[in-house]
Amino acid sequence: MAIISSKKQPPEPNGQPKQRREVAKVPPKENLLQPEAAVDEGKQEESIRPQRFADYIGQKDLKDVLEIAIKAAKSRGEVLDHLLLYGPPGLGKTTMAMILASEMGVNCKITSAPALERPRDIVGLLVNLKPGDVLFIDEIHRLSRMSEEILYPAMEDYRLDITIGKGSSAKTRSIPLSKYTLVGATTRVGALTSPLRDRFGLIQKLRFYEVDELSKIVLRSAQLLQTAITEDGAAEIARRARGTPRIANRLLKRVRDYAQVKLSGEINEKVAAEALQLFQVDPCGLDWTDRRMLSVIIENFNGGPVGLETIAAATGEDTQTIEEVYEPYLMQIGYLSRTTRGRVATPAAYKHLGFKPPNEQLSLLP
Ligand code: ADE
Repeated sequence: MAIISSKKQPPEPNGQPKQRREVAKVPPKENLLQPEAAVDEGKQEESIRPQRFADYIGQKDLKDVLEIAIKAAKSRGEVLDHLLLYGPPGLGKTTMAMILASEMGVNCKITSAPALERPRDIVGLLVNLKPGDVLFIDEIHRLSRMSEEILYPAMEDYRLDITIGKGSSAKTRSIPLSKYTLVGATTRVGALTSPLRDRFGLIQKLRFYEVDELSKIVLRSAQLLQTAITEDGAAEIARRARGTPRIANRLLKRVRDYAQVKLSGEINEKVAAEALQLFQVDPCGLDWTDRRMLSVIIENFNGGPVGLETIAAATGEDTQTIEEVYEPYLMQIGYLSRTTRGRVATPAAYKHLGFKPPNEQLSLLP
C-alpha cells in the first residue's frame, strides 16, 4: 500500500487515557476552526498583521528566499519577479504580499480572481499600476479564461494587447504597462494552467506553522491587543490552532472574552483550556468535520481505505474542501494517510478518538 503522506503527531494532552468520544451527528453552527477569514474578520486582522519581515514569525525558508530576491532586485534597480504563493488557507499569503511591497517601498493592490470576471476589471487594475507596484491576486486558479489571457503579455512583457472591433476588421493595439510584480495566491497549485504557472519566476509554498511558532504569534498578538497572557496560555491556544495563524488569533480573541467575563485576569493554560473546551475546540484542533471523517473511516470502513466521495457524503462537505482544508492538516499531524486505494485512519487517529487500534495497526505504533 503506497502511503503518500503521514507526518508528525501533536502530543496527547497530559498523555492521559481517554474515553471513546462520540461524534455528534450534526455539525455545530459556528466553526471557530475554519481557516478562511470570516466576513467581519478582515479589519480585525489588519490591526495585528505584521508589516515587515522583522515582525513576521515562521515560514523561515520562504522568508530567506524572498529576502534574497528583494535585495537582488533592489541592488539591480529592478522590480521583483512575479511570485506564486501556494498552500492551505490562513497561513499568511496576503500578509506576505503586503510585506514584500513594504520592504520594496511600493504600493500593494489587493484583489481576488472572482472580482476579475470581466476583462475590463483586470485591464482597469493593470493600467493604473505605478512602477514597481505589487498586484496581489488571491485564488488565482479561479481566473476566467479571458482575464488569464490578458495576463500573459501583461506578465511577460508588461504589455496589454487589446483587440478593437470584430471579425476581419478587428485590430490589435498594444498598450505598455508599468513594470510591476504580480503575486498570485492559491490553495490549488495543480489547478493553474501551465502557461500561467510558467510565467511566475518564483513559486513558493507556505507550510503549516509549528506549535512554538504559533505560540510566539499568540504572544505578539496578545501584546498588540493589550491582553495579559502567560507562555503556557499561549501554547494551549497554539496547540489547538491547526498550524494556522488566523485560527490562533481567532481563538485568542475568544479566550480573551472568556477570561474577561470570568474575571480571571491573565490568560493562563487553565483558563485557555477551559475556554476552548467550552467552545468545543478539540485539544489537537480537530473540528466536527475532522472527527466525523475519521470516525466514519474507523467505524464504518474498518479504518479504510475509503474513497473521497464516500467521506464527502458522510460529512456533508464537498470533496474540494476536504482535499484542500481538512486532509492537509490531518495528514500533517499523522492522523490520515492517502493511499492509492483511498484514505486510511492511522493508529494515532484511533487513539485520539478513543478507539482501540486494530492489531495489525498496533504493531506499527512506536
Ligand atoms: N499574525 C498572523 N500571522 C503572523 C505571523 N506569521 N507572524 C506574526 N504575526 C502574525
